[in-house]
Amino acid sequence: MGLEGSKVFLYVICIIFLVLEYSRRVAAGDPKFPCYFIFGDSLLDVGNNNRLNTGAKANYLPYGIDYPQGPTGRFTKDLGFDNFIPPYATVKEKCILTGVNYASGGSGILDKSGQNLGERFSFNKQIRNHKKVISRIKTLQGNETHTHDYLKKCLYMAQTGSNDYINNYFAPVSKDKTNNVTPDQFAIILINQFSRQLNWLYKLGGRKFSISNIGQVGCAPAQITLYGTGNACINEMNDAVNIFNVKKNNLIENILKSKLTDAKFVVPDLNIPTSGLPQSNGTAVTNAACCKVSTKGDTRGLCLRRKIPCIDRNRYQFFDGFHPTAYANLFYSRQMMLAISQLL
Ligand SMILES: *[C@@H]1O[C@H](CO)[C@@H](O)[C@H](O)[C@H]1NC(C)=O
Ligand SMILES: *[C@@H]1O[C@H](CO)[C@@H](O)[C@H](O)[C@H]1NC(C)=O
Repeated sequence: MGLEGSKVFLYVICIIFLVLEYSRRVAAGDPKFPCYFIFGDSLLDVGNNNRLNTGAKANYLPYGIDYPQGPTGRFTKDLGFDNFIPPYATVKEKCILTGVNYASGGSGILDKSGQNLGERFSFNKQIRNHKKVISRIKTLQGNETHTHDYLKKCLYMAQTGSNDYINNYFAPVSKDKTNNVTPDQFAIILINQFSRQLNWLYKLGGRKFSISNIGQVGCAPAQITLYGTGNACINEMNDAVNIFNVKKNNLIENILKSKLTDAKFVVPDLNIPTSGLPQSNGTAVTNAACCKVSTKGDTRGLCLRRKIPCIDRNRYQFFDGFHPTAYANLFYSRQMMLAISQLL
């Protein structure tokens, strides 16, 4: 799809969203969230990286193979309702009131995380982009008091941190690790930065937050290949990530909730049950990618261009070396919904 094609597509998506949103309100008689703002990495990127100079892109086949419009730059295709929130890179004025997706593949909590992959919008940069969007919303609404009230009702979703581990701390050339920063010290560095960032989003008007944990990155097929562990997860990575998750939940439960008393926070449980994904009957493939992934000297875990992916995609947890299949995303989006309903 050419540039013009993608623009038309996003515009259509935006309209579809508005229509769906309208029908839902009429049906339910109860507007849930008037707007969604999405921050994070490739798990939520819907095309912000397409025009950046980066290896972290997904705007080519076989990505989008099960998406009616083909490849759009979405790493993950079916994350429930937020499918319709357009990327910051191309969002039109008409659409910004219902939300913007700032997520960028390769990005992390720290500005430098993911620099091995090329350009990306770091979490700080995403917040600065959000600040610009707020100015645009104020101009559109023409009443600052109204805009403040409006933003308080919006849903703010953040899912970030994986790249601080995969493409920073545990990157093949890692400065922090060779400088003897321990996993505990690294988690504290991340938490201090993340705390500033969440406080910043609060100052900019956010009140309803869904903050996901970092997943078990040591079980991603790309990492298993890199470390050559056969089928086994890399426990060292998962242990380090778990230190962060525990500290982050402590930050939310014991610090942010008591300091920002008019804000609400939820942490969706995105851990796949040990029995495997629902419906898979224990037959799901959890440690290999569905598509063909480059293995030699390339740690990005992305699908090779135009290679036919696996046929039985409903048995695979991972589409490429890092990102879930649409099938696995059904599970994630249901868990997200469960958590987010507590913000209403
Ligand atoms: C601005 O918005 C506030 C809150 O929605 C409202 O009470 C007020 O009347 C609005 N002011 C104007 C001039 O429309
Ligand atoms: C799981 O088992 C049920 C009952 O035996 C069966 O109906 C279903 O098709 C199976 N699902 C898969 C993905 O094999």
